[in-house]
Amino acid sequence: MGTIIAVNGKGGTGKTTVASLIVDYIAANRLGSLLAVDADPNSTLADMLGLKIGATMVGVVDETSKMKDAVPAGMSKDRFIGMRVQESIAEADNFDLLSMGRPEGPGCYCYMNSVLRNVLNDVTKNYSFLVVDNAAGMEHISRRTERVIDRLLLVSDYSIMGIRSAARIASLAKEMDIKVGRSFLIVNKITSSLNSLKNEIDASGIPLAGTIPYDEELIGLSLENMPISKLKSGNVKTAMADIMKKILG
Ligand SMILES: Nc1ncnc2c1ncn2[C@@H]1O[C@H](COP(=O)(O)OP(=O)(O)O)[C@@H](O)[C@H]1O
Ligand SMILES: [Mg+2]
Repeated sequence: MGTIIAVNGKGGTGKTTVASLIVDYIAANRLGSLLAVDADPNSTLADMLGLKIGATMVGVVDETSKMKDAVPAGMSKDRFIGMRVQESIAEADNFDLLSMGRPEGPGCYCYMNSVLRNVLNDVTKNYSFLVVDNAAGMEHISRRTERVIDRLLLVSDYSIMGIRSAARIASLAKEMDIKVGRSFLIVNKITSSLNSLKNEIDASGIPLAGTIPYDEELIGLSLENMPISKLKSGNVKTAMADIMKKILG
């Protein structure tokens, strides 16, 4: 079982950007096999990673449960769905991408969620690293994804509200009994010193992994829908390398 790195935080703080930067770092430094997981229904991770997604996990489960006689004789339905999800994983040169997709309607939620959990456990055994880009909050995690997180990264923007949201999400994870190895705070889009946020960061009780500067090039890439691998900014890369050493060290 690989190291599960989950990225969370308030909307717009840079979760997907940070998740992409982590994927880029692990891939560029060849730290091991890597599965990126897009667990945000409003997914943009594939775009930031420059991948086209075919099927999503929810789509596969949904489709399979509608098909009559689809499951080959002698095979369990869960196993069959697991196989098809495996086939839906997109492959880049140095990493793979699994998109969860958007669950529709409350109808088959319970069934879907139990299947998704099994499938994820199964699929993820084959990788050294899992980088999960989450929707803001923890609620969806209770429903379907990881009950165990090795590194929970809480991304904040350069604001008090961002830090408070990060702290709220971290305590929600505790309440929900999610097994978190270590949590870290990342303050993104900083334009000046951290002094004015210091009290808030201390109050959050979450150790700071580092900061990422506000960077025009990141804005430009997202405006042009260009992948993060095109990023040249030395400032962002240096910041990311420091953060990764802290997180993995
Ligand atoms: N360090 C940064 N400097 C400048 N812009 C950034 C930075 N990090 C993220 N952004 C921009 O902020 C916006 C939201 O980022 P995104 O990663 O999609 O946030 P989230 O996934 O948390 O909603 C995007 O347009 C992104 O390019
Ligand atoms: Mg996002």
